[in-house]
Amino acid sequence: MRPSSRRSLSTCRTALLPALIALAVALPACSRTDATPDTQASGHPAASGAALSSTVVPENWPQPAWPFAEDAELERKIADLMATMTLEEKVGQIIQGDIADITPDDVRKYRLGSILAGGNSDPGGRYDAPPEDWLALADAFWEASMDTSGGGKPIPIIWGIDAMHGQSNVVGATLFPHNVGLGATRNVELIREIARITAIETRVTGMEWTFAPTVAVPRDDRWGRGYEGYSENPELVAHFAGAFVEGLQGRPGDDDFLGETRVMSSVKHFVGDGGTTGGKDQGDTQVTEADLRDIHNAGYPPAIAAGAQGVMASFNSFNGEKLHGHKGLLTDVLKDRMNFGGFIVGDWNGHGQLPGCTNTDCAATFNAGLDMAMAPDSWRGLYESTLAHVRAGTIPMERLDDAVRRILRVKFRMGLFDAPRPSERALGGRFELLGAPEHRAVARQAVRESLVLLKNQDGILPLAPNQRVLVAGDGANDMGKQSGGWTLNWQGTGTKREDYPNADTIWEALQAQVQAAGGSAEYAVDGSYSEKPDVAIVVFGEDPYAEFLGDLPNLLYKPGDDTDLELIRRLKADGIPVVSVFISGRPLWMNREINASDAFVAAWLPGSEGGGVADVLLRDASGAVQHDFKGTLSFSWPRRADQYDNNVGQPGYDPLFPFGHGLTYADDGNLERLPEDPGISADAGQDGTLFERGVPGPGIRLVVTGGDGRGADVLHPRVSSPDGHLALSAIDYQTQEGARLLTWSGEATAELITASPIDLGQDAEAGAMLVATLRVDALPQDGRAALLVGCGEDCSGELQVGEWLAGLPRGEWTTAGVPLACLRDAGADLARLDRPFVVRAGAGLELGLAEVAVGTEADHRLDCAAQ
Ligand code: BGC
Ligand code: BGC
Repeated sequence: MRPSSRRSLSTCRTALLPALIALAVALPACSRTDATPDTQASGHPAASGAALSSTVVPENWPQPAWPFAEDAELERKIADLMATMTLEEKVGQIIQGDIADITPDDVRKYRLGSILAGGNSDPGGRYDAPPEDWLALADAFWEASMDTSGGGKPIPIIWGIDAMHGQSNVVGATLFPHNVGLGATRNVELIREIARITAIETRVTGMEWTFAPTVAVPRDDRWGRGYEGYSENPELVAHFAGAFVEGLQGRPGDDDFLGETRVMSSVKHFVGDGGTTGGKDQGDTQVTEADLRDIHNAGYPPAIAAGAQGVMASFNSFNGEKLHGHKGLLTDVLKDRMNFGGFIVGDWNGHGQLPGCTNTDCAATFNAGLDMAMAPDSWRGLYESTLAHVRAGTIPMERLDDAVRRILRVKFRMGLFDAPRPSERALGGRFELLGAPEHRAVARQAVRESLVLLKNQDGILPLAPNQRVLVAGDGANDMGKQSGGWTLNWQGTGTKREDYPNADTIWEALQAQVQAAGGSAEYAVDGSYSEKPDVAIVVFGEDPYAEFLGDLPNLLYKPGDDTDLELIRRLKADGIPVVSVFISGRPLWMNREINASDAFVAAWLPGSEGGGVADVLLRDASGAVQHDFKGTLSFSWPRRADQYDNNVGQPGYDPLFPFGHGLTYADDGNLERLPEDPGISADAGQDGTLFERGVPGPGIRLVVTGGDGRGADVLHPRVSSPDGHLALSAIDYQTQEGARLLTWSGEATAELITASPIDLGQDAEAGAMLVATLRVDALPQDGRAALLVGCGEDCSGELQVGEWLAGLPRGEWTTAGVPLACLRDAGADLARLDRPFVVRAGAGLELGLAEVAVGTEADHRLDCAAQ
């Protein structure tokens, strides 16, 4: 069902572009290293037919200097301590549990070396837990680790957290732009300062370690983690990596290095996370060893030279071999060749994905070189099995000792053995530092410098503030949206304005500046106005996402939903000039929106400081420019929706706006009309996937509708129908939160709704089925359930599937297929389906749902003749 032919490269090019391409090559702030022939030839090695091997030749890799000389006194302290440690205590040091699944009493008993707070893990399970609760929890875990009443040694625990764009899990923290925006600033000293502030705010709430920076080099814009990376260009990533590490940890040799105002950095995700085929999160990076080294490894040598104490192993594979088990890369390259002297931490149950391993049992990862396994909910089982492996010799004692030594070295270097409880340390409990004005000022500067101006027709920007300004679009007054994923919770969804006490939305900032200058400002999401405005600022863009939930099949922006485009066009039709501010984690195909707007600004994911946007868009009251645009693209902007892996330096490089492009107010910002053909079909469900990893495919919504006919859109993984009859929550299937559990307590319907009708007629002729990957946990009390499809009003096809469901295995994942022909015969017009999968049932049914797709294979097939 994929479009078989792609359109050839568009020949349209605006007059501006040749000049931009010249610009693209210059990257003044970065030292240019000579690219090897291998780098030049990068692209699609798999396509060349060359056999790719996952083995590596360490001698070919760079050899950064580790900035710490052998320290005899430190080694003696470690040796003395280790001589007293039991085997259990040693194993405890190499296992990290998550606060959602471990208590201080567990630490007291098992003597674990570390805990983490994952994106959805918070004190008391509250995403909006107050900072005081975080600090109290840090104290409780620290006390448990130091409690010797049971005979254990006092070894301070170290707490890691994803302080990814500021201490972004905690209410009130300064939220910096995500890395995609920081890349656009090109400002390395600003990066250092942001990291320094992040360390301070992290220490306030008691943690000593952040899982940052991400030095991924995202090469495919479809990847859901693209925004965590600074750039598609390895040189820019390398340029920032060392500075960010130094900002977090301080500089080796300086008095405050790893001191009380600093945190440990773990650079991630080693290695190749940004190079997976198809931009699939956690996928396989099928590239040559030279590309892995020269592109994806670029950030590690400078981070190691800066003394990074940690590196996080990546979920991805390198040519089929998972990094968590890759001894060649973890041990031979990273530790031996690249001189990394800190410890390697795993990613979230990443070890469990190795062949032969489970989340609770995996000798192979430690033997490959992992020093601390991230075992959020699996720590107890992993602890027991690891203990058994060391006893049996499947994990050599020397390997365990090496891992423990590496972890203890970091704890000693950080002075943790001499530090009091987190609340009594220099910054512990100084809550006034969270979102402190001087911190927010730096974040605001970062926003200003990250904005990239792509169009400024007839110099419409900067705007005079003393006029009538309409602000519209659903991104204008939404802190969650302007902050993106990894904000207060994993996906960054479901938060409210009150959760951001130290922040301004873009609307709030615009309004304040316009009013102060004597203008008038009005805000309406849908662009309605009471009096015709002089100008409209429309703020719109991607809704927050994190990790694989952000993966896309192409670069279409909200396929099937043209609300934003129509809003811009409507305002234009009313004769109102429109300035578009686009919030996104990546460049997307926006030609239609760019054409419709007078000015177009890529704002990325700015974070808490909407003021930075107002500072650049608006003149001051006297008419002077407050701040000019400085940002330049760190990711190439696509010409078409299928141009997702067109990166600077590659053969055939032909983006719409190249790497390095960004207008200033001195430039001619006029743009000729761009072609409006995306190069691919925008149909929803075009690849046959309607629902995947627990979320609807592009252009498709999941709605839970109660017995009263009122429905709720499923926008985050915890939703109920308004009448409470149908509750939805996230469950694991293959990946964390890879499926949804639907629980009926009354009459209700779960339905997938496409934005525009899809045609499955030919699939039915070809014998295809609707195949669901599901798990039946419990059956409806009355035994009845219906599966139906809808095709507009008064058109549907319905099958009774209660008995069939009863015959499926209980509590086990399986695939179940309903022939499309059955639905056709039941009355559906398959040529125009707008509800391609609907389940209706009453109280009692409990159904896990991971995937719905059009296919031909299934473990169980509904025999409709028998229905
Ligand atoms: C992510 C990491 C993160 C970890 C802890 C993982 O799923 O890949 O980047 O640090 O979770 O939240
Ligand atoms: C956690 C994240 C983690 C993810 C892994 C989530 O539940 O909150 O921190 O990265 O699972 O898939």
